Amino acid sequence: MIRTALADDAASIAHLSTAIGYPNSAEDILPILLRILDDKAHVVLVFEVSGSVVGWVHAAEQLNLESGPRCEILGLAVDPDSRRLGIGSQLVHAAEMWAKRQGFPRIGVKSNATRLESHPFYKQVGFVHVKTQHVYRKSLDAYGDRER
Ligand SMILES: CC(C)(COP(=O)(O)OP(=O)(O)OC[C@H]1O[C@@H](n2cnc3c(N)ncnc32)[C@H](O)[C@@H]1OP(=O)(O)O)[C@@H](O)C(=O)NCCC(=O)NCCS
Repeated sequence: MIRTALADDAASIAHLSTAIGYPNSAEDILPILLRILDDKAHVVLVFEVSGSVVGWVHAAEQLNLESGPRCEILGLAVDPDSRRLGIGSQLVHAAEMWAKRQGFPRIGVKSNATRLESHPFYKQVGFVHVKTQHVYRKSLDAYGDRER
């Protein structure tokens, strides 16, 4: 069963996030989840089997000055013990239907090149690889408080 996430899902979402390399506790996830659940531009859907959450997807509107609004999948995880059962496909389909209802003509996703299983997966569910990017980050720790 696919349903909208609830605050009570924080521990399950944290567990699945940890399994895909983002170590998180329920306490880490809960305040973020609450903010997301309160924001109509986001959706978090979970896949539940016999009362256990075995997958989740997060999609949201992204607003870009140059290209306008678009919908992106920002996170997707399926329990390693429940993969290749169609759960990821069903979660992505549900996110697509949400995006369609919001009026978006398409949906996108950025997936790390190192997530090897995600690339055949997204192609299989109909996504087309359109570009490859370099991602840059910079720490702001070197700036003093008075420079803010
Ligand atoms: C990517 C991921 C969500 C796929 O979930 P899933 O429930 O296993 O996917 P599905 O069972 O719906 O797979 C649908 C199809 O995608 C392809 N696919 C999925 N996993 C694959 C893999 N490891 N290798 C090759 N093809 C794969 C297959 O064609 C599969 O159909 P099949 O099993 O009948 O051959 C899951 O592997 C995962 O959580 N990975 C870690 C996190 C991640 O990469 N998230 C995406 C980044 S945004």
